Parts: sequence; C-alpha cells; structure tokens
Amino acid sequence: MTVSQAATPEPEVVTKTAAPVKTVVERPSEFTVENKLTGRDLLKSVGFPKTIVAPMVDQSELAWRLISRKYGADLCYTPMFHARLFGEDKRYREDQFGPLDGDANVDRPLIVQFCANDPEELLKAAKYVVGRCDAVDLNLGCPQGIAKKGKYGAFLMEDWDLIYRLINILHTKLEIPVTAKIRIYETKEKTLEYAKMVLSAGAQFLTVHGRTREMKGQLTGLADWSYIRYVRDNLPPDTVIFANGNVLYSEDIDRSLEATKADAVMSAESNLYNPGVFNVNKPGIDDQFPRVDKLLREYFETAKSTPGNASQTSMKSHFFKVLQSFLPKHLNIRNAIGPIRKGQYDQFEDVVKQVEEIVEGIYEKVNKGELEDKVITLPDGYKSVPYWRCQPYFRVVNGVLSNGKRKADVDPEAAQRKKEAKLEKEKAAAALASLSSDGPQPTGDEAPEPSN
Ligand SMILES: Cc1cc2nc3c(=O)[nH]c(=O)nc-3n(C[C@H](O)[C@H](O)[C@H](O)COP(=O)(O)O)c2cc1C
Repeated sequence: MTVSQAATPEPEVVTKTAAPVKTVVERPSEFTVENKLTGRDLLKSVGFPKTIVAPMVDQSELAWRLISRKYGADLCYTPMFHARLFGEDKRYREDQFGPLDGDANVDRPLIVQFCANDPEELLKAAKYVVGRCDAVDLNLGCPQGIAKKGKYGAFLMEDWDLIYRLINILHTKLEIPVTAKIRIYETKEKTLEYAKMVLSAGAQFLTVHGRTREMKGQLTGLADWSYIRYVRDNLPPDTVIFANGNVLYSEDIDRSLEATKADAVMSAESNLYNPGVFNVNKPGIDDQFPRVDKLLREYFETAKSTPGNASQTSMKSHFFKVLQSFLPKHLNIRNAIGPIRKGQYDQFEDVVKQVEEIVEGIYEKVNKGELEDKVITLPDGYKSVPYWRCQPYFRVVNGVLSNGKRKADVDPEAAQRKKEAKLEKEKAAAALASLSSDGPQPTGDEAPEPSN
C-alpha cells in the first residue's frame, strides 16, 4: 500500500460489529507545527476517552479492537510495529495494517504505536499511517530481551537524547500528533524528570505504566499508582496523562482515576482475558463478565470478517485467553485448540461450537437451580466469577498472585479445582497416549505473555 492509498477514503466493507463512529480528528488543511492538535485539543478530538486498549503485540489487532470497542473501549492502540520494517517492507506493513485498520467508520479513535531507534526511520514509517489514525505513539516501555538487543522500547531509557530526537522529529515533521508510553524509574523524581523531557520533545499524551523496566515476567508485581500521581501533580494541569496498570475489574478504572488523577486508564492483560472490563457504564453481568461462548462467537465472527495476517496470527492466543477460566474444566477443548494452525477456520469453528454446546448444558443446570450464575464480591474486594464467564487472569509466582494475594486466600476453591484439573489432565494425557504417541498436545500458547 502506498502513502496515497493509505490516505484514501474508507473501503466499502464494513464489519457487522462496526462500532458507532465516535470522533474523527479534524486535521488542519496545511501542516505546520503550530496548527497541529496539542494535548487537551487532541484529547477532545478523540472524544475524551476514559477506557483505553493498550498496545499489545499480536493482540490489539483490528478484530480484537472491534470487540473491545463493542464492550466499552473508548480509544485503542495498535500493537507495536517495528518502524524500520514498516517503512521498508510493504509486505510487513500490509500484514500488520490492512485496509480496514484505522477505518473512519469502524476503527477510530486509534493510535498507532511504533518502536524505533532511528528518527528518520520512524518518520518514514509514521507517514504511512497519516489519515488512518489520530496520533502515532512511541514505545518506550518494552522490557523484553528482543528490545534490549534491538535497542528500543525501555532500553532507550539510557539515551534521553535519542528519545528526544525520536519524538521531536514526529512533532515537527509529521502531520499528526505524537504521543509516548513510558515506564517509571526507581524514584519518583527521576520519573518526573523523564516525563518532562518526553513532553518537551513534543509528546501530546503521556501514558505512564507504573512499573519499572525490571518488573517483567516473574518479577512483574503490582504497578505503583503513586508514581503516576506524583507525575500528574508536578506537571502543568493541562498535561494529558493516561494511567496504566493494576486494572482487574471495571471499578478499578474509577479507582485508578481517583488515585492517579489521570485523564484516562489503559489496560492490557485484563482486556485480553475479559473485554467487559471496559464496560464501565453497563453494570450487567453479561456486559462486565460476558459468557465465554457468546464472546468467543462474537470475536470469531469479527475475526472472520477482518481476514488478514494479523487477525489469523492472533486467533489462537485470543481463544486461549477468552477461555482461560473454562479450559481447566474442559481439557478436551484445550487439547482441540492446541494443534490448530493459523488460518484453519473450520477447526476454530468446531471449537466455538463445542464451547457453545457445553455452555448450553451449563445453563440447563443453571435454570434447574443446580448451578449458580452469579458474581460474588469476596470480603477483600476480589470476585468469584463463574468459570464460564470471562474474568481476569491472575499471574501466579511461587503461589502468590500478581495482585499480591495468595491464590488460596482469594479463591478458597482454587486448590480443589487445581486438584481436579490435574486429575483431568492426567486422564486426558493417558487417553491421548493410548491413541498415538505423537497425538495433539496442548501448546504453550495459553501461557500469558510477559508484561511488555
Ligand atoms: C500480550 C501483551 C502484549 C503487549 N505488547 C505491547 C506493545 O506492543 N507495546 C507496548 O507499549 N506495551 C505492550 N504491552 C504492555 C501493555 O501495553 C501494558 O503496558 C502492560 O501489560 C501493563 O498493563 P496491564 O497491567 O493492564 O496488563 C503488552 C502486554 C501484553 C500482555
């Protein structure tokens, strides 16, 4: 796709799940730095969002954004794209950002995120998405080994001069605004100094992920909202700040806003496991904790209507995440998903149908009063959600959950369920082994990705 094609009006295909048009940025006809949208005006142009889908590699692709918008997300970020590849490689660009991405009718407001370490490469890549998004974001938070090797993401934190130049080239030479997503430093003072530098370079929104670069994988731990609040309190009041981290339930969005005084809240993992987390204005159980059968069907139909590489690549992982609470009870489903390969829609359809049948059976029991379909708030504020409903995932590190609680304390039935799941797993493995020694096995796809 060329730059001019990228900026052409929206294609005719519009998916069934099309979200209502919210806002489209009014871009000045002639570009100068002075007439670019800044801070509050940019926030207004994207409809003063409150809930934001985080950039997520291979996960915040078009189909998932459409589902998320349907369940209350006000603003979405694309996955991080590699600027050099995006600028140079047509195939990569088209794989990552197809004709419906950024479509004015279904996929806005949208911020496209890049990782980069060369200002010219970043500018070249960003020019391809002008007219198809509301701003371009620079990833300054990725802590993974690959980012260290490639010197991007959080590994730019050692090179403020380069960060300044990356942001500033977009600020001064790109027609649309630039934004940035950062991690915190060990101290609040250094984090503030860093935030000031990023803003002075021209970033119009600042997303603060309240974890340090070291807090990843097993060390992820809790985000520290007090750092975000410190940054907020010590910057000019019109600075636009998004808070990221520690959202499990819809109520946490208001809690985060209250604690950090940020303008909006971004969530990644909780949105992936339960897009209903953004349904802050709809308190119904089906809105906030959608049934896995319904959500899976909606997602699958949407993904089929937005075909393309990104959609296909992400599908298996979305299946595992949507079904994370369901699979330990139905290992046959897990074993059915494991061997499915990218693009095998018929096999995915079979899984969706099986899940629908099982949940139908569950509701027969619910209707007879044999099972309870209720979300219960536990004394410590955590919730017990029926396993056939989407719900947050708790990362377990040495028996302790990512929320700092012991799993058994939060969920007294956990140990029993674990025992049952282990037994079922052993049974399923034995059955498989008796069929074939190289039969289907669960893959590692269900394992959560480390925090980026
Ligand atoms: C699957 C996955 C992919 C991610 N990819 C990106 C990414 O492309 N760019 C980025 O800035 N952060 C990325 N992150 C980090 C999230 O945007 C977010 O900062 C982090 O997960 C903390 O938010 P949470 O506590 O709501 O999960 C990713 C996180 C996850 C779970």
